[in-house]
Amino acid sequence: MVTSRLSVSIAGLQLENPTMLASGILGYSAETLGSIAAGGAGADITKSIGLKPRVGYANPTVVQANCGLINAMGLPNPGIDEFVEEIHEAKRLLSVPLIVSVYGFSAEEYEKIVKKAVEAGADAVELNVSCPHVKETGSEIGQNPKVLSEVVRKVRCTAKKPVFVKLSPNVTSICEVAEAAVEAGADALTAINTVKAMAIDAETMMPVLGNKVGGLSGPAIKPIALRCIYEIYERVKVPIIGCGGVTSWQDAVEYFLAGASAVQVGTAIATEGPTVFRTITRGTDVYLKTKGFASVREIVGLSHRR
Ligand code: DHB
Repeated sequence: MVTSRLSVSIAGLQLENPTMLASGILGYSAETLGSIAAGGAGADITKSIGLKPRVGYANPTVVQANCGLINAMGLPNPGIDEFVEEIHEAKRLLSVPLIVSVYGFSAEEYEKIVKKAVEAGADAVELNVSCPHVKETGSEIGQNPKVLSEVVRKVRCTAKKPVFVKLSPNVTSICEVAEAAVEAGADALTAINTVKAMAIDAETMMPVLGNKVGGLSGPAIKPIALRCIYEIYERVKVPIIGCGGVTSWQDAVEYFLAGASAVQVGTAIATEGPTVFRTITRGTDVYLKTKGFASVREIVGLSHRR
């Protein structure tokens, strides 16, 4: 069920509903991206793709925490040259926009990958400048406003499609980073990536993850994400895409009220299945109707009124 109450435009990208598959979850094959769209997602975001293939870290790469997951996969991916085939296939299959997540080890790398992804048919790109544990990329870029600006500026010059920038919560001031990204040309901001975390096994007396340190996702980080969105909304004008622990329509509504124009769902797919998107959009639609709103756009940032 789709109503115009739920349709949104994010930096020119038209979505039938304001939910998206978060990057990193099931995002390599055209088939799995198709099954997420069939579950009701308004857009799909791929797993992060680099210039060259990467194997990733040794197992274990995921561990369950209270109210969430800690993962450290190490950015495994086939590399952009191989992945363009998957983009072509996904574009043939999907009726929702396809956003390709990109990571690089320099501004030039980000630029090259984005160019290839857009030429292959990506409707937008999301810059992963916030992976919490792979050296010389991810948050090592996104924690430094100067380096981040250079990456965003280069990509914005080349990309003929909207550029989203996914921010790290692992910083002193997320607003400072958000403002740097927007000044450099970001069309939208995704807030937030995972929170740096770890697990230790009392029996083996050792860290659980192969990489020792990983990123926490799921309901455990929802209040952190909500605070980040609320703060960023007061400082920048571009759309914010909320991400982090969205599991129910109530979570999504809280994100809209904080200032998000859309939400991404990741970890909840593991607990609720791919139809979680439809459950969230239906619940949001009933909420809007009951409260007398004609569009989800009317409640974006509403909690900021004085
Ligand atoms: C990985 C984990 C992340 O949280 C992220 O943002 C990007 C990549 C990973 O381990 O592959």
